[in-house]
Amino acid sequence: METKTMETSSIIESAVLGIIKDRRSRRAYSDKPIEPEKLKSLFEAARWAPSSNNEQPWTYIYATKDQPDLWNKLFDALNDSNKAWAAHAPLLVLSMARKNFTANGKPNGNAKYDLGGANAFLTLQATEFGMNTHQMGGYDHQKAIANLNIPEGYELGVMMAIGYYGDPETLADHLKVREMAPRHRYMQQEFVLNKTF
Ligand SMILES: Cc1cc2nc3c(=O)[nH]c(=O)nc-3n(C[C@H](O)[C@H](O)[C@H](O)COP(=O)(O)O)c2cc1C
Repeated sequence: METKTMETSSIIESAVLGIIKDRRSRRAYSDKPIEPEKLKSLFEAARWAPSSNNEQPWTYIYATKDQPDLWNKLFDALNDSNKAWAAHAPLLVLSMARKNFTANGKPNGNAKYDLGGANAFLTLQATEFGMNTHQMGGYDHQKAIANLNIPEGYELGVMMAIGYYGDPETLADHLKVREMAPRHRYMQQEFVLNKTF
């Protein structure tokens, strides 16, 4: 495929839901714990995501800061660059997907796709609550598998650091700049076709 320069903009060009507009992957967290009923609502949002054959392959391991043993098992697997700020997140979540269909044990080619959809639902529910969800691919999968005793048959997705918004001033300088910087996205004409390739 030939390379080309794709046009971007930092402006939301058409009307979207407030929670889509407000969501961004922040790194500053408040110490405020997440209320148990709101925690349940986050996973309830994931629960109602669509999935291939209604298989619902998503599985989550979460830990709140007041469960230090489990929280540290999740935290320990993160890359150092993520540890630097995720250390202050009151909630860590590891997302994973069952690789095979429960009914017949055959591989589910859509498992990870469905997990991504469920994570997106969870993320938007968190935004509705005024919480930040920062997804992280930057972690050691083998460490997560060992620390959390994850059996065969699961494919790991992102880890997520979740909590109420904190003060960006608490972040290291380079992260503070990123927290406030405008975000850029490709223009729709770069990825939406109403014609053949
Ligand atoms: C699959 C995935 C993996 C990501 N991994 C990391 C990560 O390891 N560390 C990090 O700081 N951000 C990570 N991010 C966040 C992205 O950098 C972020 O979503 C992207 O820059 C767009 O910014 P926005 O979410 O604020 O719109 C990840 C996001 C996704 C979806």
